[in-house]
Amino acid sequence: MAKKVAVSFNLNGNDVDVLVEPRELLIHTLREKLATTGPHIGCETSHCGACTVDLDGMSVKSCTVLTVQCQGARLLTIEGFEQGGALHALQQAFSQEHGLQCGYCTPGMITRAYRLLQEIPNPSEEEIRYWMSGNLCRCTGYQNIVKAVQAAAKVLAAQAAEKPGAKAPAPEKVSA
Ligand code: FES
Ligand code: FES
Repeated sequence: MAKKVAVSFNLNGNDVDVLVEPRELLIHTLREKLATTGPHIGCETSHCGACTVDLDGMSVKSCTVLTVQCQGARLLTIEGFEQGGALHALQQAFSQEHGLQCGYCTPGMITRAYRLLQEIPNPSEEEIRYWMSGNLCRCTGYQNIVKAVQAAAKVLAAQAAEKPGAKAPAPEKVSA
């Protein structure tokens, strides 16, 4: 068995330390060692996006990231979206617009949509479909996912207008 390596990173606002084999994938560390089961395992080949997390301001598919690559990183998963007991605008929008059915893809979808809205706060439908194209959904047909992202964009824009200078929540601020 390979020698284990100590890795430290920030997960949803909390500093965590884990001991992993150099070959261990981030999705397995999250789910099996850190009780972070929001990111799901679908294909494990970088196709479905169910395992999407935000890593230092980038969407990554955690089934193709080694945990040892996360030393010192800042990670956001769906568990970090709740704000003081309230759902994030994206979570509310996915619920209200019926952007999910079985929900298996939803943590990855929302995490990817979060990154999109950080980069493009008012995306066109074409931009939403392009940005979300690496996240597959077997249930919804995608239309309501697009509507949910559009609805969340409006809510976040209104929130930003109320608090000029405020950005959409960053990982360290959205953890409970
Ligand atoms: S499980 Fe990672 S992309 Fe499908
Ligand atoms: S809601 Fe079932 S896979 Fe997307």
